[in-house]
Amino acid sequence: MKPYKIIKSNIHHQGLCAARNIKIGEKIIEYVGKKITHKQAENNTKYGYDVTYLFTINKKYLLDGDFKFNTARLINHSCDPNCEVLDTSKTKIWITAMKDIKKGEELSYDYGFGFDSNYKDHKCKCGSKNCVGFIVREGSRWRIKKRTNI
Ligand SMILES: C[S@@+](CC[C@H](N)C(=O)[O-])C[C@H]1O[C@@H](n2cnc3c(N)ncnc32)[C@H](O)[C@@H]1O
Ligand SMILES: [Zn+2]
Repeated sequence: MKPYKIIKSNIHHQGLCAARNIKIGEKIIEYVGKKITHKQAENNTKYGYDVTYLFTINKKYLLDGDFKFNTARLINHSCDPNCEVLDTSKTKIWITAMKDIKKGEELSYDYGFGFDSNYKDHKCKCGSKNCVGFIVREGSRWRIKKRTNI
């Protein structure tokens, strides 16, 4: 039995939830797509829309995950995620449980977006207690908190 299923999300449109209880450290789903460079993404309008299916591997490469076969593309961002990707330098990108997850809980991970001039374009609706209101990676959220006195 697959550990995930597609749901209508409370965060945004569709998402994935746990189809059964999942243990911390369990590999849940592989993020698969086409490897492209950041430059290719910048030069192609296909990647410029509000809903993005790009997974950052490192400073040079991204994975374009906008393919129906890539069910992992439906996982939403959260400021209090229950999943993570441990090592993006490897050829396989596995979304892994970072805590025990109960059946029915929505799966989420930190999209890792940087704090740049466009951060306000990506409003966060994860609904967690520590949500900073924008999709920004954990290590940069203090900058938003400083600005907004959260
Ligand atoms: C990879 S898709 C995730 C799947 C998406 N919910 C769908 O149904 O296609 C990423 C997009 O989902 C939306 N999204 C993901 N996490 C979000 C969040 N925490 N708050 C608001 N929108 C979010 C944003 O539009 C983002 O560009
Ligand atoms: Zn949030």
